[in-house]
Amino acid sequence: MPTALIIGASRGIGREFAQQYRAAGWRVIATARTEAGQAELRALGCEPLPLDVNNINDCAGLGWLLDDEKIEVAVLNAGVFGPRTASLASPQEDHFDEVMHTNVLAAMRLLPIVLPLVENAAGKLAVISSRMGSIASRSDPEAWLYRASKAALNSVLKDISLAAKKSTCIAFHPGWVKTEMGGAGAEIDVQESVAGMRATLASLARSDNGKFIDYQGAAIAW
Ligand SMILES: NC(=O)c1ccc[n+]([C@@H]2O[C@H](COP(=O)([O-])OP(=O)(O)OC[C@H]3O[C@@H](n4cnc5c(N)ncnc54)[C@H](OP(=O)(O)O)[C@@H]3O)[C@@H](O)[C@H]2O)c1
Repeated sequence: MPTALIIGASRGIGREFAQQYRAAGWRVIATARTEAGQAELRALGCEPLPLDVNNINDCAGLGWLLDDEKIEVAVLNAGVFGPRTASLASPQEDHFDEVMHTNVLAAMRLLPIVLPLVENAAGKLAVISSRMGSIASRSDPEAWLYRASKAALNSVLKDISLAAKKSTCIAFHPGWVKTEMGGAGAEIDVQESVAGMRATLASLARSDNGKFIDYQGAAIAW
């Protein structure tokens, strides 16, 4: 039975990943930062682990808890949007810290722990980035703190992909998805987004290592 690790699975896209991999018969290790979130994951048949991605002890603890696991698919999903600015207003320092810590620093703490476990299975590792992080396709500075954080996350993913010897590491744009973050007016529901990302992950070859793609597998310019 293959194993999936979903980091940030209490709701939205992460929870849907956990649910769909369970429905497909996978063993699913899934993290949530609250006990209620972990209980819901247990009810889905997942193995829940506690993790606040901004807590350095939790991050180190994840390494201990996962020890020498063999992970076929790992998804770093946890993320925050931050202030919904329309202009070039300088972010408040606490907003900057929350967005950059959650979306970037956590990846730099967690991915070096997770990569060896994915290497054990010559598996797939994905970060949930965003098209808003693309510098090349940018036409609007809306929510520039979030954009900067996802551009930085993409940089982190690229470096992880360079360290990968057997696995395939990619950055995903999940689509504009109806979640608490995406809002009710978004284009697609979580089922479609995650079904697309799972199918894309399954079809990835080692030659796809280091790519930035959307939930249907289409390339996105960095
Ligand atoms: N929805 C979209 O249209 C869209 C588009 C592009 C990219 N994305 C990306 O997709 C990912 C998932 O977004 P979503 O739409 O599913 O958003 P969401 O419904 O707001 O869910 C965010 C998830 O991240 C977790 N999280 C946030 N901070 C955390 C922390 N410090 N420690 C642990 N978990 C934390 C949340 O856990 P709690 O329940 O504990 O808060 C929740 O499970 C994010 O990285 C987001 O940037 C979403």
